[in-house]
Amino acid sequence: MSTSSQPMLAVQGLCKTFGGLKAVQDISFDIMPGELVGLIGPNGAGKTTCFNLITGFYKPDGGRVLFCGEEITGKAPHTLARRGLVRSFQKTNVLRALTAFENVLAGHYLAARQSLMDIFLPRAHVRHTEQKVRESAASIIDIMGLSHRINTPASVLSCGELRLLEVAVALAAKPRLLMLDEPAAGLNSQEARVFGQILQRLLGTHVESMVIVEHNMHLMMEICRRLVVMNFGQKLTEGTPEAVQRHPQVIEAYLGKASA
Ligand SMILES: Nc1ncnc2c1ncn2[C@@H]1O[C@H](COP(=O)(O)OP(=O)(O)O)[C@@H](O)[C@H]1O
Ligand SMILES: [Mg+2]
Repeated sequence: MSTSSQPMLAVQGLCKTFGGLKAVQDISFDIMPGELVGLIGPNGAGKTTCFNLITGFYKPDGGRVLFCGEEITGKAPHTLARRGLVRSFQKTNVLRALTAFENVLAGHYLAARQSLMDIFLPRAHVRHTEQKVRESAASIIDIMGLSHRINTPASVLSCGELRLLEVAVALAAKPRLLMLDEPAAGLNSQEARVFGQILQRLLGTHVESMVIVEHNMHLMMEICRRLVVMNFGQKLTEGTPEAVQRHPQVIEAYLGKASA
């Protein structure tokens, strides 16, 4: 874990309006090196929009984003991915006809565009690179606990295995900061527990920091040291899971949603 006091990610006063809807209003938070932070809040709170603003899929109406001290506001997603800011999507990035291994391999080539062309050219350094990529893909499959499924088509993987493969594909881009949007959707409590343990293992080995949006509160409480809570586009509070759980406005936001 780094002792640097500079945030890996600094989100400062981000705003985004869609028509008349203030989807994200003056959102600020920092992610420090070595941290795993949860971004939580009821449906429609603005979590995915925040991810889209940070990772360059949307341009903010106001505010800025700094990555490792450098302003990156509005930069293109592929530029940011190359710098190490990588996000997953709520919808799967897995190609179902490919095997687990091929999916992770494809992730590597997509992350380093020119290599995709290079593999057709029989040059020695390219063969060397291809070997390295294959080793990297195998090691990612291994850390995600999918070695026994390495040559299985994604189409026949279980829901839990697919969720693990989605993270594996994101890891192929060699993130420094990995942002996961609802990575544990559809998992039962046992699968979610295993999934959480694997995510924790990635921290400090495959990624420096992580931000996770997730509805499974039990999982978030277990793996995150800090939670940022959003509601109606605004930041309600941030703090340890214990503090956040006791926060009256957080309780109201969740109970309000449950009784709606
Ligand atoms: N591209 C878009 N165009 C218009 N409205 C959007 C768009 N993306 C999100 N919204 C709206 O912004 C609000 C926040 O959405 P979102 O960020 O997806 O919430 P969350 O991920 O917390 O469930 C919602 O009311 C949603 O309908
Ligand atoms: Mg969302």
